[in-house]
Amino acid sequence: MIHSAITGTGSCLPERVVTNQELEEMVDTTDEWIRERTGILQRHIAGEKETTASMGAKAAREALDAAGLAPDDVDMIVLATTTPDRIFPSTACHIQRELGTPVCPAFDVQAVCSGFIYGLDIARRFIATGGGGTVLVIGSEVLSRIVDWSDRSTCVLFGDGAGAVVLQARDEPGILSTHLHADGRYDHLLQVSPEVNGAFIEMKGNEVFRMAVNTLGRIVDETLEANQMDRHEVDWLVPHQANHRIIAATARKLDLPMERVVVTVDQHGNTSAASVPLALNQAVRDGRIQSGDVLMLEAFGGGFTWGSALIRY
Ligand code: COA
Repeated sequence: MIHSAITGTGSCLPERVVTNQELEEMVDTTDEWIRERTGILQRHIAGEKETTASMGAKAAREALDAAGLAPDDVDMIVLATTTPDRIFPSTACHIQRELGTPVCPAFDVQAVCSGFIYGLDIARRFIATGGGGTVLVIGSEVLSRIVDWSDRSTCVLFGDGAGAVVLQARDEPGILSTHLHADGRYDHLLQVSPEVNGAFIEMKGNEVFRMAVNTLGRIVDETLEANQMDRHEVDWLVPHQANHRIIAATARKLDLPMERVVVTVDQHGNTSAASVPLALNQAVRDGRIQSGDVLMLEAFGGGFTWGSALIRY
């Protein structure tokens, strides 16, 4: 069995920051409501020239640099995104062209906010079965292009950005386990359906909230059980960043104080597939996450899809 480990992380955030106060000018909302209900203070929004591919490539370059690798070393590119630049070719192929990697598999994964965890799972199995020793797993989103900026119930929640990791073959894990699930019976609660609403995000916030809290609680148990680990052995929770209250509920389940939870939702909003690698990169670069720490990554999103990864960093 060939194990794999994260050996580099990177990110890219658009320069333009949109505060809650700016949103007060656009829709009937208040900074206070957004802070209290979601924990979000601001979000980054892509400029005209920024795309899922351009941000993904930037984040990937940073992750390769951190790993001491070059694009020539890459054996596969997995891009998790809900906002591909075109229907086809895949945005992963555009990223491959921008990076100038050798010919290798490159494809998009669509599992909405759980996409990065899905990508990590696929990459780890590719390495485990001898497919190659170095994989880029990227999450990149321009959600601002599928947000209805006149709908206060959704437009305050989302942001743009990209995060990336390099996964490399190692003798020791690394990735201890990954867990993926989907249940399509709930597809109507969170969707972008061109024939229903003109290709904008539509969400039944309350119901999604309840499902997210319950489901993430269950996957935490599943992940710990699979590794025969006690919750107190987890050093860091690196959660999907949708809502501060959902994150806090998962932290309570793990009996982790909030100082041990990586929170970026206040600065980034919900960046869907980019949110977990963006949070991971932030805590690695500011020195909170140290070599040997045990990390619980988890995500929940449209589909519904959900997943987790337990990692010894
Ligand atoms: N500003 C002010 N009021 C707002 C508002 C806004 N931006 N958006 C909604 N409201 C209003 C609603 O119209 C409603 O008013 P009413 O009671 O008069 O009808 C009231 O606030 C409460 O709305 P509700 O939807 O019950 O609020 P909530 O406490 O559930 O919070 C979310 C809304 C969206 C923040 C919350 O449900 C959530 O985070 N859900 C999960 C989101 C998520 O995780 N999505 C992605 C999964 S990946």
